[in-house]
Amino acid sequence: MFKAQTYLSRRHDLRTHLDSGIAVFMGNDESPMNYADNPYHFRQDSSFLYYFGLNTAGLAGIVDVDEGKDYIFGNDLTVEDFVWMGHHPPLKEQARKAGIENTGTILDLEKFLKKAVTAGRQIHVLPQYRTDNKIKLSNWLDIKPNETQKTESVALIKAVVAQREIKSDEELAEIEKAVNTSVDMHVAAMQMVQPGIMESEIAAKVQEIPVRDGGNIAFPIIATVHGETLHNHYHGNQLQGGDMFLLDCGAETAMGYAGDLSSTMPVSASFSERQREVYNIVLASHNAAIEMLAPGLPFIDVHYESCRVIVEGLNDLGLMMGNVEEAIQLGAHAMFFPCGVGHQMGLDVHDMENLGEVYVGYAGKPKSTQFGIKSLRLAKPLVPGMVLTIEPGIYFIPSLIDMWRAEKRFTDFINYDNLEAYKDFGGIRNEEDFVITSDGYQLLGKKKPKTIEDVEKQKSTRS
Ligand code: GLY
Ligand code: MN
Repeated sequence: MFKAQTYLSRRHDLRTHLDSGIAVFMGNDESPMNYADNPYHFRQDSSFLYYFGLNTAGLAGIVDVDEGKDYIFGNDLTVEDFVWMGHHPPLKEQARKAGIENTGTILDLEKFLKKAVTAGRQIHVLPQYRTDNKIKLSNWLDIKPNETQKTESVALIKAVVAQREIKSDEELAEIEKAVNTSVDMHVAAMQMVQPGIMESEIAAKVQEIPVRDGGNIAFPIIATVHGETLHNHYHGNQLQGGDMFLLDCGAETAMGYAGDLSSTMPVSASFSERQREVYNIVLASHNAAIEMLAPGLPFIDVHYESCRVIVEGLNDLGLMMGNVEEAIQLGAHAMFFPCGVGHQMGLDVHDMENLGEVYVGYAGKPKSTQFGIKSLRLAKPLVPGMVLTIEPGIYFIPSLIDMWRAEKRFTDFINYDNLEAYKDFGGIRNEEDFVITSDGYQLLGKKKPKTIEDVEKQKSTRS
């Protein structure tokens, strides 16, 4: 974790955002796979990590705005627990590392919160995404488990988003570490991809690298010849010459900071002419989006510019036609690009996604419900210190093509006859990570191969 001062000043800043009451931060508990003693790899809640830094299961933190005190609650492990799980420092000792003197057991927390409820104090809680934490809060705050959203505090959500979305220098150093490991994952895959190998072999190799570096994967690995499926976690295909292979994976450091990169490469030694054409449209869209990045610019403009380059390229290929602006306005391009051009990244790979897109990506403004643009996670103006991904793509999704064709959707803009030949193409995405600076942007981490020449060169360097 960072030094205690980091957590002290983050909690101090949080107080300046809240008028009164107490803010409750639920740490995560162990999450069993198939029985209680067989848990998944532990992952702490990111907002708890941000304000309290402790990477231990079963804790909760409180920032008492009225009294100017901070607390950590949790039960110390017993010697019998140490027999199985090794020695754990007492909570008092752990809490000091976060600059906190006030600690108590989970029973103490329950009493603290029940007293606060009785006294009618304002209790700020973030949206909960784990059922066990919903049940705990329902008991402590005397509400039904399916009504914990009633405790969600917009003031706290806005305060947390305002703080977490501006990365400090020490956070940026952690993120760069994560991205550097992520680049190693992608280069390793480029050197392995060849006809005959299984997707699972590449996924296994790629997973080894962040674990070796002391961290973990930041999200389930996408390593697939069916890159047209946006979040494809199936790894059972054998790679065949002529296929495209899409890798979307990133490392998480031991402190929980993420990297998130995507690469697309031919399974054969080099790209075919058709693959080259589509790859270069995606690359042009990617580079156009990056070049725009600057503080003050609404990210939705970056998204639309990346769409524009894609539609122009698809028009040139004869897969789309007609007026580019109109096609985008109406959403015809979403056949090929049904998602957003990027998202914030930090302690979560989709940073703060559980706090609500409307606050994280739209500054409280409503978002479009149109297919495609509705999946844009970030639209609001960029601010120095924001970390985000740029990841446009072109996807040929057979079921979507068939459905839109049958429904005669956007026949003025989509050339369905020409598209038939692309139904086995797959998908292409490139992704890199950036921080917004006072006068533009900076690439995070070392460079990942992304031009056709660089990818083919890596592929010729067998591991
Ligand atoms: N890397 C997965 C995603 O951005 O959705
Ligand atoms: Mn991403």
